[in-house]
Amino acid sequence: MSSACCMEVRGSLRVRNSNFVGSGPYDYDKVREVRACPSVMSPETKRLLPPNTETVQTKPFPIRGERTDFVNSPHVIAMVGLPARGKTYISKKLSRYLNWIGIKTRVFNLGEYRRHATTAYKSHDFFRADNMAAMKIRTQCAVEALNDVIRWLENGGEVAVFDATNSTLDRRKMIYEVIVEKMGYKLFFVESICDDPKIIEQNIKEVKISSPDYANMNEDSVLTDFLKRIEHYQERYQPLDEERENKIAFMKIYNTGQKVVVHKHEGHVEARIVYYLMNIHITPRTIYLTRHGESEQNLMYRIGGDSNLSSRGALYAKALSSYIKEQKIEGLRVWTSWLKRAIQTVADIPAPQERWKALNEIDAGICEEMTYEEIREKFPEDFSARDQNKFAYRYPRGESYEDLVARLEPVIMELERQGNVLVVSHQAVIRCLLAYFLDKSAETQIVADELPYLRVPLHTVIKLTPVAYGCHVEHIKLPIEAVDTHRPKPMVSPFHLYAFS
Ligand code: SIN
Repeated sequence: MSSACCMEVRGSLRVRNSNFVGSGPYDYDKVREVRACPSVMSPETKRLLPPNTETVQTKPFPIRGERTDFVNSPHVIAMVGLPARGKTYISKKLSRYLNWIGIKTRVFNLGEYRRHATTAYKSHDFFRADNMAAMKIRTQCAVEALNDVIRWLENGGEVAVFDATNSTLDRRKMIYEVIVEKMGYKLFFVESICDDPKIIEQNIKEVKISSPDYANMNEDSVLTDFLKRIEHYQERYQPLDEERENKIAFMKIYNTGQKVVVHKHEGHVEARIVYYLMNIHITPRTIYLTRHGESEQNLMYRIGGDSNLSSRGALYAKALSSYIKEQKIEGLRVWTSWLKRAIQTVADIPAPQERWKALNEIDAGICEEMTYEEIREKFPEDFSARDQNKFAYRYPRGESYEDLVARLEPVIMELERQGNVLVVSHQAVIRCLLAYFLDKSAETQIVADELPYLRVPLHTVIKLTPVAYGCHVEHIKLPIEAVDTHRPKPMVSPFHLYAFS
């Protein structure tokens, strides 16, 4: 690309800011004193507390797995729509997002209940409206799935996604009676409507071919059978109706987001769900994640700071630029943090660039620019608290991984809206982003346990390509040596901590 073109590209640089936990001058000893004995604080000490220290004051070492995003009353999100309208895609994706932001979510797929209850599925005939024996099984399965939904919500679950067609007024009435009238939970229906035959056919080919219903069947036979199955549902399908079902809260999504209608949604969780589902799309694209090139601070094993690239880091910047150019990625956008090492890493990449403060590395507060050895020596309690619960542990005057996830939510939302993007950021930040894209989030606890230890080596591009219900992940190591900054998960016993490093 010519330099004139590069200049034009540079001209499109944009800077984004977001809420960020900053740091300022304060008394470290006082903060530590507060952390150690919250009940004996003098008024003088209290005055020294920065506003965001309240959590630290009352919860020096947060309870394992505790998240800030809580849900007051259990929710059921019930899908609606003909087969092959992307209900399972939406259910899985929504569940991944909600778990990532800390809301305990699980999908209950009615097809799985039916397959478990009977091996009777031989062909589309099973779904005929006049197949009474099959209809009895289908109704029993729906009741059983709803009972499991309730059991799970009674045992600490927060959002249950009921992934089924729920395509008749009667079925939705039954769900309303059980979930709202009997249990007093919140209920929100999400209907996916699609009349584009190409999208429907693509969906069948991508996900139904591999369904256990069609083991050992060829693509054409699956397509024929599945289209007949859809016809049987079509005969009895009653789309959500704001007059006849006027007391229920729902959202309708037309042709994968071309148009959205929202009716009577209520409260924080439903508002977030609506906003999220309005932002996702299914257009094929690729997301590239990488850390900055090796920095001068990395060479000294110091965390944080804002140093320049090392000489090997500068070589990585060149190698990354060549790799990206070779890929010839259409419409690529490059996002970096505000930190020098990230900006220097993309200096030669000829694509529109944006700087996000939200992509800055985790703020290590009083531990910024220290080595782990120095932290262990100077702040042994903090060092050990972090090993006990790295996800929830917040550096004094800094951030926790949990804070980081909250800070990164706008980035994820914007990534969902975009096409091809290269994100150049930092170890903790890439871990958070990666945890969202990987299917690690069956439960919030898994996110909390695994996320802070995901391996994100320097000088490696992580290429994420959306496929069916998840993401294909490739690690492309570029051939430039770099230090290893990964600190593995220590083995924690109630009395001692052992770090394998
Ligand atoms: C199925 O049995 O595969 C789906 C049942 C339904 O949701 O209608």
